[in-house]
Amino acid sequence: VQKVVKIARLGRTSFRTVKNNRDYLKNKQTSNWMYLSRLAAEKEYQFMTVLHNNGFSVPTPYDHSRHCILMEWIDGTLMKHYRDTSTYKKLYSDLMSFIVKLANHGLIHCDFNEFNIIIKNEGSPNFIVIDFPQCVSIEHPDAKAYFDRDVQGIRDFFEKKFKYTPQHDPTMFDTEGYGEGYKYAYPNFKRDVVRCASLDVEVMASGYAKKKTGSKEDKDLEKADDDEEEEEEEEEEYDDEDAFEEEESDSENEKIIAALSLGDKPLKMDKLGNYILDE
Ligand SMILES: Nc1ncnc2c1ncn2[C@@H]1O[C@H](COP(=O)(O)OP(=O)(O)OP(=O)(O)O)[C@@H](O)[C@H]1O
Ligand SMILES: [Mg+2]
Repeated sequence: VQKVVKIARLGRTSFRTVKNNRDYLKNKQTSNWMYLSRLAAEKEYQFMTVLHNNGFSVPTPYDHSRHCILMEWIDGTLMKHYRDTSTYKKLYSDLMSFIVKLANHGLIHCDFNEFNIIIKNEGSPNFIVIDFPQCVSIEHPDAKAYFDRDVQGIRDFFEKKFKYTPQHDPTMFDTEGYGEGYKYAYPNFKRDVVRCASLDVEVMASGYAKKKTGSKEDKDLEKADDDEEEEEEEEEEYDDEDAFEEEESDSENEKIIAALSLGDKPLKMDKLGNYILDE
């Protein structure tokens, strides 16, 4: 197996992850970008691990350390370059089904598009989904909007690439897929999502419900919370030891961190992909 290392640099991730990144910062006070990138890598590794363990087509995650993730290298082409006119309707249906299955397990990808889907050169299933740091729970207050955006991204791509704009077809009974030949052209959050697992709780995805009912999930959650506390001590050590001090003004950073964690001030990105206050 060939492997790749993904190096997280939070300042370079998509701007729309800003809001979701808030939950990484809960109870954690630091203005260290390296630390934030490390949290992003840890979170992504957790998402990939639970998804892989639950049979989702994602790269096999092997390990993570600091702000890096080691994972399986996928031999394929980004969906952006996909041109197979004979199989695209099945791919469309499978991608929509992936979104629904993911949501049934409690999660929404939030960046599900042609840049984060790899079409494999061989093997089945023929696509692999990547890039998870911005995943949220289906309990997130904006879950429906994120879900709809992921669905719409796929619709837009297939319209643009293949002029494929399927419509709902009430004469069809098959609801096991989407698009031509099926009842529904695309998934609907309310109609189609039926929770069957709580991966969002397992990984404490942004927006996961924190109900204390003594269920297995809650126990797992408590354990995860404890683990997190232990890790925090570890992280302090790591911070001191490596002295990743910011060269930029600390107070500016504090403001950006506050904006990330509280959402109290608008942020934008500069040309280098770093967060700056939009003042
Ligand atoms: N496991 C993998 N196997 C093969 N290629 C990969 C793998 N993971 C990522 N890539 C390639 O690297 C690119 C970036 O990876 P990813 O989408 O995970 O990061 P990102 O945070 O979106 O980075 P960027 O913002 O720079 O695109 C992908 O578009 C894909 O081309
Ligand atoms: Mg990406």
